[in-house]
Amino acid sequence: MSRIAFIGLGAMGSRMATRLLQAGHQVTVTNRTLTAAEPLSQLGASIASSPAEAARDADVVIAMVRDDEASRSIWTNSDHGALSTMNRSAIAVDMSTLTPEWTRELNVACHAVGISFVEAPVVGTRPHAENGALTVLAAGGQEVVEGLESIFSAFSSTTHFMGDVGSAAVTKLAVNSMFAIQVAALSDVLGMMGRSGISLEKSADVLSSMATASPAANFIAGRITAGVRDPNFPVELVAKDLDYAAKTVERQGGSNDQIQAALRAFEAALDSGFGGEDIGSVSRMNLDGLRS
Ligand SMILES: NC(=O)c1ccc[n+]([C@@H]2O[C@H](COP(=O)([O-])OP(=O)(O)OC[C@H]3O[C@@H](n4cnc5c(N)ncnc54)[C@H](OP(=O)(O)O)[C@@H]3O)[C@@H](O)[C@H]2O)c1
Repeated sequence: MSRIAFIGLGAMGSRMATRLLQAGHQVTVTNRTLTAAEPLSQLGASIASSPAEAARDADVVIAMVRDDEASRSIWTNSDHGALSTMNRSAIAVDMSTLTPEWTRELNVACHAVGISFVEAPVVGTRPHAENGALTVLAAGGQEVVEGLESIFSAFSSTTHFMGDVGSAAVTKLAVNSMFAIQVAALSDVLGMMGRSGISLEKSADVLSSMATASPAANFIAGRITAGVRDPNFPVELVAKDLDYAAKTVERQGGSNDQIQAALRAFEAALDSGFGGEDIGSVSRMNLDGLRS
């Protein structure tokens, strides 16, 4: 079993680290807010006070943090960043949802100090992490990725190897854009049907039975109808990912009209104070006034 350092114990990271411990790995955990590490120490994790301390004796260092800024800090900060102490034979793995621009820069920073880097964002949300059912999108050296399978399999059921660093980050932003665009569209059409006097339940039921439906949109339609707001994938992270996707397309000189439209909808939900609620709360601006 590898010695793993796990950095970032938010909603996803805490569940993934738990699965690693349950699979018998030796795990040292750390988090910016260190209190989040305590429940994992009950499961056998060692606690380190910083990424640099966690990474010191690790074979594999995994990060699962919010965004590019957090990732930059935990890897490259000269005082507490993991790269400052990692063994040259160790592997750096970032599983956060990040921009391809940053992961390519991080790849260069790792190679400059002789460390292999793998980007490995995950598809799936909190229940998938808990049940070992995430999908990993991996990029970097193929043999290095293959060597990580015994670690990934603790919390995932599938790994897609995407190619060079940057390609997994782009794929992850593509998947989340497809998801968010569908949920934003669902919000518009449920609002249109509701204002026409059709009940939310009937609207969701009929839309979900059509050939135009998708499993992801159907799942969210069910949660919207049931009024479930507890986050699996919170609005604020959806907006972050759409912003990253929109900027990625902009840099490529491509068209991002649908991504921009969805981003505006999720930013409006953020402005309304729904940032901590589940993705379906983007529909609240359209539906709250219609609920009996
Ligand atoms: N939630 C999902 O459904 C889902 C699914 C797939 C992928 N993802 C992606 O996975 C990553 C983690 O998501 P999550 O749901 O676990 O988010 P989360 O619950 O908000 O946790 C964010 C983590 O990042 C840390 N962090 C934030 N800013 C930081 C900074 N400047 N420096 C150091 N650490 C910082 C937080 O530390 P503190 O505890 O100190 O705030 C926390 O550990 C994100 O990139 C997200 O987009 C999320």
